[in-house]
Amino acid sequence: MTRRILTIETSCDETAAAVISDRLEVLGATVATQHELHERFRGVVPEIASRAHVERIMPVIDECLRQAGIMLADIDAVAVANTPGLAGSLLVGLSAAKALCVALDVPLLAVNHLQAHIYACQVNSPENVFPCVGLIVSGGHTSLYRSDDPLDFTLLGATIDDAAGEAFDKVASMLGLGYPGSPAIEHAAHGGDRTAYRLPRAMLDASEGLDFSFSGLKTAVRYKIAPPGNVDFDQLSLTPKVVDDLAASFQEAVVDVLARKATRALRETKLSTLCVGGGVAANGALRERLVADANANGFTIHIAPPELCTDNAVMGAIAIERLRAGLTEPLDLDIIPGPARR
Ligand code: KG4
Ligand code: ZN
Repeated sequence: MTRRILTIETSCDETAAAVISDRLEVLGATVATQHELHERFRGVVPEIASRAHVERIMPVIDECLRQAGIMLADIDAVAVANTPGLAGSLLVGLSAAKALCVALDVPLLAVNHLQAHIYACQVNSPENVFPCVGLIVSGGHTSLYRSDDPLDFTLLGATIDDAAGEAFDKVASMLGLGYPGSPAIEHAAHGGDRTAYRLPRAMLDASEGLDFSFSGLKTAVRYKIAPPGNVDFDQLSLTPKVVDDLAASFQEAVVDVLARKATRALRETKLSTLCVGGGVAANGALRERLVADANANGFTIHIAPPELCTDNAVMGAIAIERLRAGLTEPLDLDIIPGPARR
């Protein structure tokens, strides 16, 4: 008999739920973003995020059940992202999931948000994507994992400072492209010259392993915009050409580092499949470069579809693997907010 799980995702600023069958059919999926609440702060404010999750979690679940054409009583298990993420945000999802498990007398399943970003590739693929190297490029994380199967992930490397998405957001803000500004960087980059500015590509030496660093790149862009010192970016008038060229040069630097490190991870692990997920994987230039490198080096690549790159609950389908393996959780399951950058 088909089992249906409800997945809940509230790790950062998206409130999301999905209903998924144990054959990985997506029966309903809802995402409520909070961009308008954080826009004037140009970044996610944790307290605002958690309060918004409280208001949205039940309407989001209701909408998702409506799409699936089922009632709560038809759910066979509830899965929730409990790590990593913002503490207050994770707590809202976990509390809702536990309450539903008690009320419905169904098992609770834990989802690791980063592993779920990789699993978004499996949801979208008719073939088994494991074993693979997983590249996660999001607002809080830039990490490479080795995954021999969906229950087994080993960290190979991660950013030692800013995540790639964080650098995109901060550079977009400096260039006056709004919040969240990474799609605007991608748009501006189309009209720009990616060789116009020489920007650093950190930690590419083989001795520096598979870790990343993006804060120096972000600072380099800042110094191209204006000399060091107290600069009010809102008062700067950058020409459209400077904005486009800086956007293109910055994007190229990020893409170059991510692609080279991913190829190195495949070579070092001797694996032949790369799975890519996380919000930055929605970036067209990154997708094109990764596919080109995969073709040139003869490895298989799966990139999550753009709508499953940014945070969503469909990727929580990874919990089905735990359900199949009997790995359900006790009701005193806790959140694990950190480590922040892994
Ligand atoms: O995975 P995600 O939704 O949330 C986290 O888990 O952090 O990723 C959000 C990040 C943001 O930093 C955002 O700037 C970035 O994904 N992002 C993009 C694009 N769309 C979203 N970065 C580059 N190009 C894009 N088109
Ligand atoms: Zn994410």
